[in-house]
This record gives sequence, structure tokens and C-alpha cells, in this order.
Amino acid sequence: MKILFASSEATPLIKTGGLADVAGSLPAALNNIGQDCRLILPGYPDVLEKADNLQSLTQLEIAGETSPVRLLQGSCGPHRVPLYVIDAPHRFNRAGNPYLSPEGMNWPDNAERFSLFCHAVTELALNRIDHDWQPDVVHANDWQTGLIAPLLSTQENRPATLFTIHNLAYQGLFDHATFLRLGLPDELWSYHHLEFHDQLSFIKGGIALSDRVNTVSPSYAAEIKTAEFGYGLEGLLNHRKDHFSGVLNGIDYHEWDPLNDRHIDTPYSAESFADKRNNKLALQQEYGLPEDENIQLFGYIGRLVDQKGVDLILQVLPGIMDAGAQMVMLGSGNKDLEHALEKISNRYHSRVGVFIGYDEGLSHRIEAGCDSFIMPSRFEPCGLNQMYSLRYGTVPIVRRTGGLADTVVDVNPTTLVNGSATGFVFDNADGSSLWGAMEHAINFYRRSATDWEILARTGMQQDFSWEASAQHYLELYQTAIDEPGL
Ligand code: ADP
Ligand code: GLC
Repeated sequence: MKILFASSEATPLIKTGGLADVAGSLPAALNNIGQDCRLILPGYPDVLEKADNLQSLTQLEIAGETSPVRLLQGSCGPHRVPLYVIDAPHRFNRAGNPYLSPEGMNWPDNAERFSLFCHAVTELALNRIDHDWQPDVVHANDWQTGLIAPLLSTQENRPATLFTIHNLAYQGLFDHATFLRLGLPDELWSYHHLEFHDQLSFIKGGIALSDRVNTVSPSYAAEIKTAEFGYGLEGLLNHRKDHFSGVLNGIDYHEWDPLNDRHIDTPYSAESFADKRNNKLALQQEYGLPEDENIQLFGYIGRLVDQKGVDLILQVLPGIMDAGAQMVMLGSGNKDLEHALEKISNRYHSRVGVFIGYDEGLSHRIEAGCDSFIMPSRFEPCGLNQMYSLRYGTVPIVRRTGGLADTVVDVNPTTLVNGSATGFVFDNADGSSLWGAMEHAINFYRRSATDWEILARTGMQQDFSWEASAQHYLELYQTAIDEPGL
């Protein structure tokens, strides 16, 4: 099957979050099972620099665009995934992150930037350029690709479409004037298409007008059909329920393998679990914390935003210190949270280590060195770090929501007896509920090193590789082709 995978980020070229991990590994997993999946990305500076063998294929004619737009072809990453790049320097070739200026503000022309991307993907998808390849299905991801399905929906001989929601909180909302400025077909300004409470909604376009829609875990699929998590789109998602499902993400076991990880101090596996302690000592040293393998070490990695519940971690830090444990954190985002964390680590530098920024290698060393990883998310479509933690024998402590609920099995008398327990799960998004789970983890760790090791090793034996999910996506593509959803 020929699959065109459209994303606004992909590892190892450009990453702000989990979407990049998925776009960097799912196409490779599909190609591994005999498919022809090709990735298409905007031409940000990092993409132009880091992609392999980039060559110009052709000039693209995009309605309303006066500046040059070129289609380049090359390959992405160690799996050599075939790659197309939309090279439009006036929209993509600038410093900063894909969505934000260096000052942390949304780029003022984000609607134009990603509308251009969607138009360009559509040209390739309809085989309108001089290049002999037409996909059977276009797989679009998140709001930045939300206009692809609407633009394709009115065309003859269009490929099938799948839209994946990685995070419903980011919707690509703009005013009506923007809709007019983008020159989109008039008929798309309706309740059944792109209009959402008098605004232009990119994500609504993907949800309303794709043959199939999915999100990245079964639990999040159920949650966003309710008013609490649906941001007003729950009605549409319920309307599309026969064409909407949840497919759990996989993780890249090549990139995240404690036995073969170039970033960490000492390789280890479930069989050589004792070697993990060297990574703990190295991590304590890296953060300037007292080096002691018997001190329980907790970790956090992630965007410092409301979604991730970092404020709840702030609430439990005094308890962690009182218990004589340590905490290391890595993240960036909300400036208030950044300052609050830095303040605490300056004050309690023997207990709390904070690194504000983005550091791929350190994220691996945290997974390898900690005893336990905390994810108190308010919502979590899938979440990848809890799966990386399981893989690294770093027992996750998570809130029962979205993909966290689908991947971590709570420690309780039943799951301990039947050997399925892999972590600590709590229910409410508040400090005391998180603390309840942490206290449980602290007591469990102190009571028996052997039981802790059994728990960690059970996590290491779970299988969250991409193979099963890639098979699932292949089935979704096939149904989108056989039974169009529109
Ligand atoms: P989200 O996509 O909502 O940010 P995920 O758990 O799906 O959450 O994925 C986040 C990804 O980004 C993980 O691979 C995580 O390790 C990585 N990550 C987040 N913040 C940082 C950081 N500051 N440094 C390094 N990696 C980070
Ligand atoms: C989003 C979600 C995260 C998910 C990732 C990849 O950014 O917030 O939960 O794991 O996408 O699907």
C-alpha cells in the first residue's frame, strides 16, 4: 500500500513533542511490514539541514502563492524513510520552533504556513505534479494537517484519508477574516466543514472530512467523546463514532533500549538489572546531587504546561524531601513553572535537580538512572515517557487518564499476586492524590528491594513495540479505502 504520512514534525529532524516520535517511527514500522510509506514535512531549517540526500523534484503551483514553493525528495533518519519536503523559505525557513517565534509567541502567519503545507500535500496526493507516485491513503496528523482532508474531499480520484488526533487541546483556531484571506473554497465555511463557533478550525476539518479518524489510545478516544475532554468537539466525535477509534502508539525500541543506548553510562537489561544503579550514580553526579544508590530517585521529563500537571509535582516536592528521596526534572515551557522549579532546586540543591531546556541525551539518562518516573497529567492522549520508563525498569507513577491508564497496571493485591503490576496509578488531578501514590511507591521501595526489582522487571518485559500498532494502522487504511467514510 502507498501511504503519504503528513506531519509538522518528525524525529530525528525536528521535534517539540511526542508527535515527532510517532512520525519518526510509525512510517518505518509500516515499511518494515512491506508497505510504501513516505513522510512529508515542512522545510524548516533543521529539516533542510538534517535530511539525507535532499534533491529538488519540482516547483509547485499553489493557488494564491506568489513566492516560490518547491517539492524536495530525500530520506529521514536511520530507518531511511522516504521523505518529501515542502521548501517554501518565506514560510518555513526561520529560526525558532515550528510553531513559535524565539520569544515563545505563535508565529503570526501560522494559518498561512500550514494552509500552504496542506495545499502542497494535496497536490502530491492528487498526482498533479510531474512525479509518478500517488498514495492510496493520506495519513494526516494534528491540526497543522487538518485542511488536507477538506481540500481532497471535493476531488475526483482522491486517495483515502485518515486523520489522527494527537492532542485535541491544540486546534488551529483562526478568525473568519483568516479563512477569507486563505482563499479556501466558500462551501467549506459551514457548520459541517471548517466553521466552529464563527471561527476557522483546522482540526475540525480533519475530524469532519476524513474517511477515518483516530486518536492515540483507546481511553483518550472514549474521553474526548465527553464534554470534559472534548473542547466542544465531542458532538462531532460522537457523530463520527462509527469511523472513529483509538490506536495506542508504539515506541521505538531501537532508539529506547537500555542495553544499547549511546547516551547512558552503563548498559543493562532485565537480566542485569543491578547494573542500572551505575546510571543512577552517574545521574546524581550530573545533577550535582549526593551520590547514593540507596536514595530513591524520582524523575520527570516533559513540556512544562498545564496538561502535564507539573503544578502537582510542585505540591509533592516537600513530601519527597521529607522522605529523604531525590527528584530530577528536565523540561521547558511555561515561564512561571520554570522559575518556580529553578527556585526550589536552588534552595534544596541536595534533593532536587532541575534542568530547564531540551536535551535528548539527558532524557535517556533520566529514564536509565531514576527508580521511578512521575506523570501526573490532567489529560494524556497517549504519553510516551511512561512507556520509555517501563522499558528502562523505571517504575511509572501516573494519573489514570488517556494512554497512561492504558499502559500502566496499578500495584494492588490482585495485580501483585497475578504478576501484572507495573506501576502506581492515582485518580484525581490533585496533590494529595498524587502524594498517595508516591507514598505507596516510597513504602514499597523501602519494604523490599527484591519486590521492587520484580515490579521494575515486569515493566521491562511489556511489549509496546510499533509492530502491533503498525498492523492496526494498516487495517484502518484498508477500511478507509474499502469503505470511504464520507
Ligand atoms: P507530548 O507530546 O504531549 O509532549 P509525549 O509523552 O507523547 O508528550 O512525548 C514527549 C516526548 O518529548 C518524549 O519523547 C519526551 O522524552 C520528549 N521531551 C519532552 N520534553 C523534553 C525535554 N525537555 N528534553 C528532551 N526530551 C523531551
Ligand atoms: C501528543 C500528546 C501525547 C502523545 C503524543 C504522540 O503530543 O500530548 O500524549 O503521546 O501526541 O501521539
